[in-house]
Amino acid sequence: MRPALLLITHDACGGGGNPGPAAAAIELIHAASLIHDDMIDRSDKRRGEFSFHRKYGFEMSLLVADFILSLVLGIASGYKDSRVGRILSRASKLMSIGEMREVQVIERGERISLDQYLEILKFKTAVLFEAATSLGAVIAGRPDLSEDLGLYGLYLGMAYQIRDDLMDWGSPGELTSLLGEGGLRDLLEGMAINLAEEAMEKLEVLEDSPQKALLRDLALYSINREE
Ligand code: FPP
Ligand code: MG
Repeated sequence: MRPALLLITHDACGGGGNPGPAAAAIELIHAASLIHDDMIDRSDKRRGEFSFHRKYGFEMSLLVADFILSLVLGIASGYKDSRVGRILSRASKLMSIGEMREVQVIERGERISLDQYLEILKFKTAVLFEAATSLGAVIAGRPDLSEDLGLYGLYLGMAYQIRDDLMDWGSPGELTSLLGEGGLRDLLEGMAINLAEEAMEKLEVLEDSPQKALLRDLALYSINREE
């Protein structure tokens, strides 16, 4: 989904440049992060199969994620526009900070506020969506649109992660179990809808096109409200 977002946003901005390697870099960062996340969460399964560490062991999982990040550095250095490397580096940095904060609060087992929860999911998940869509604009030669389209990705990513957490609601060890309060589930449902709507508003900077319509549909899909 993340590289597709980059490519569709890139098309919606008029195309041009070379978006393929950047789209691959986004997917590679995502893959490395899932390998590590499954180690941290002690998850045995990923996408219906055994997780990487269950298949290849902890040592190989650490090393292959290091290797993947070296590929990302190579891809970033192939772009003349230094914004590409900066955007990829910012996303990886914030994802790491988000995951570190999640580990810390889960280890402490204390209640967390809604703001803490939202910041963690923004960092660990949504910033990579933001990187994908803002890179789409930058590589298409429309850096003037990268902030708005980055925010489209950010809000979409937050809506997506809230939906993902709502599906795991009540499972032990989940971040949401530290939120407490009973009414929060409804509040989060409402937030995901608002975020998807805010994401769609950010698309107003784009001229109408089939790609713009697709980006809008993706925001609707993220909250299961297809039209
Ligand atoms: C899945 O969350 C995990 C993430 C969205 C990000 C994980 C980030 C890191 C491990 C740090 C950054 C790493 C790199 C390589 C830059 P989840 O556990 O809520 O979702 P799940 O149910 O799919 O496991
Ligand atoms: Mg996990």
